Amino acid sequence: MAMKLKLLELTDEKARILFEGEGYTYLDALAAELLNDPGVDVAQRKQAFKFTDPELVVTTVGGRSPLDAVIDAAKRLSGYAGEKSDLTVIALDADPAMARIAQETAAGRTDRVAPVIGDVHRMPVRDDTASLIVSRGSLFFWEDRVQAFREIERVLRPGGVAFVGGSFGTAALRDRIFAQMRRRNPNWDRDVARRSGQATHDQLRRELAASAVACSRIREEEAGFWVEIQKGSGCF
Ligand SMILES: C[S@@+](CC[C@H](N)C(=O)[O-])C[C@H]1O[C@@H](n2cnc3c(N)ncnc32)[C@H](O)[C@@H]1O
Repeated sequence: MAMKLKLLELTDEKARILFEGEGYTYLDALAAELLNDPGVDVAQRKQAFKFTDPELVVTTVGGRSPLDAVIDAAKRLSGYAGEKSDLTVIALDADPAMARIAQETAAGRTDRVAPVIGDVHRMPVRDDTASLIVSRGSLFFWEDRVQAFREIERVLRPGGVAFVGGSFGTAALRDRIFAQMRRRNPNWDRDVARRSGQATHDQLRRELAASAVACSRIREEEAGFWVEIQKGSGCF
């Protein structure tokens, strides 16, 4: 997985690193992983403002290089999905080019990613198979979200959970996307506003109710929202 880092401070026992475009979820996981390293004294995420990229502060003991500790922890973290489970990922998109990109950028585990060309309204996936469904920025394009929500519930295995949301990642990443898209599409802001306006929280709640999925909620996160759908085993 390629990541853009900026070294803010580096001594023999301290590093302050900015992770461009990474949200606090990843940084918190990395900080927790760093603390498994006996050479690490402190590993903490800091974020000046909600809209700035978070930074990681690491201090070490016993001559452990803070940068090596971070690199090793990041490697362990990205290895877990591949080594500690038999996880496979279906990269489903209506556009063949997008499904291929998802496979090519799959954090060095292309063997675990199956690109599938398909429509969210009728996914070519058996009932009760997916443990986790994640889709960002696509629900604005779905023609019939009520049907899509039902379909997501069908494909989830009991105990599984889906997150389908509206977000551009972190606020910093959002700014970069907007800057580039405004150059490509002079109507970009208007298009985004129009699409978001058709998927307000109230509208999504009505659609979730109409779909009759058994367990759902809307969550506000760092830089956007997620519709969360859970199947079986109680509800939140
Ligand atoms: C704005 S892109 C989001 C890309 C990516 N998830 C991200 O966050 O950068 C929306 C994607 O949804 C896909 N899409 C739209 N309608 C779809 C449908 N009915 N079934 C499957 N994919 C669909 C489009 O092909 C496109 O790749």
